Amino acid sequence: MKDFKNKTAVITGAANGIGLELAREASKRGMNVVMSDIAEKDLEKAFDEIKKINENVIKVITDVTVYEDMEKLAKISTEKFGSVDLFFNNAGVVVPGPIWEIPNNDIDYIMKSNVYSIAYGLKVFIPLMTKQNTPAHIINTASVAGLLSSPGMPTYHMTKFANVGLSESVNYQLQAAGSKIKMSVFCPGFIQTDLHHCDERRPERFRIDENNPYYSSQTYKDGLERAEQVIVTGIPIEGIGKKVFEAIENEKFYILTHPQYEPVIGLRVKNILENTNPDISIFKK
Ligand SMILES: NC(=O)c1ccc[n+]([C@@H]2O[C@H](COP(=O)([O-])OP(=O)(O)OC[C@H]3O[C@@H](n4cnc5c(N)ncnc54)[C@H](O)[C@@H]3O)[C@@H](O)[C@H]2O)c1
Repeated sequence: MKDFKNKTAVITGAANGIGLELAREASKRGMNVVMSDIAEKDLEKAFDEIKKINENVIKVITDVTVYEDMEKLAKISTEKFGSVDLFFNNAGVVVPGPIWEIPNNDIDYIMKSNVYSIAYGLKVFIPLMTKQNTPAHIINTASVAGLLSSPGMPTYHMTKFANVGLSESVNYQLQAAGSKIKMSVFCPGFIQTDLHHCDERRPERFRIDENNPYYSSQTYKDGLERAEQVIVTGIPIEGIGKKVFEAIENEKFYILTHPQYEPVIGLRVKNILENTNPDISIFKK
């Protein structure tokens, strides 16, 4: 897609970080924008910002872990603007901590937020876009954590690898069907957003149980600290929206923003092909 003017972009997780940045860029390009998020106050604030530069913007409270919410988002978007041309399957969260220590609640929370949400988004928006029968594009926000592994945040890697696998497979299916829907998987490294505060915006059913000793443990605190440290030292958010839109214009499937991780991706593939065991020493350099 090259011409975005008067077309419609639907964005999940639009109240903060990457989603908000995408709303800014879509607005600059003359699009109708649907901003959706679970965090009501944050969404209100983000909406007020975008409203100043784009009168064709609406906000929809959506919990992407709930399939019916995704259906409602699609319905409201098409009722308001007639079509959905870009869908940013973007909302996501992070859970620190070793797999053998975190509560099952955290596993359910990150799987629902980062994997089920992406599947729900595809399930709802692909039939809608197919019916429209006009050029459309879906962008799944994964992470470079879906292309390489590290000792930090294993459940995050689990969900982002799932995202990349799902995106690649569905993209093949769309191609095989001769679909007008194009697809991209966005795989950035660390970017300065509000991701490390995601616990404050957990859906009610995944709320932290203050009585669970894990959440007052040093392991949990260290994990949060590490998450904060990598996010606040990430690259600035400015320009990320432009980069993603340029990739859409050029129909690029993989969207990467951090060239410094490319050798680590290469090493992973090399290890697989040469039957070499992964070695922790690469993270100690
Ligand atoms: N910031 C990074 O370094 C980075 C790197 C790679 C990938 N990502 C991915 O980018 C995406 C956006 O994250 P971000 O960094 O902008 O974080 P962010 O926390 O700044 O923004 C994410 C938004 O998603 C919303 N959200 C969370 N759970 C939701 C739910 N159940 N329903 C609806 N909205 C929900 C939050 O309220 C928040 O507004 C995520 O998928 C994240 O994994 C981020």
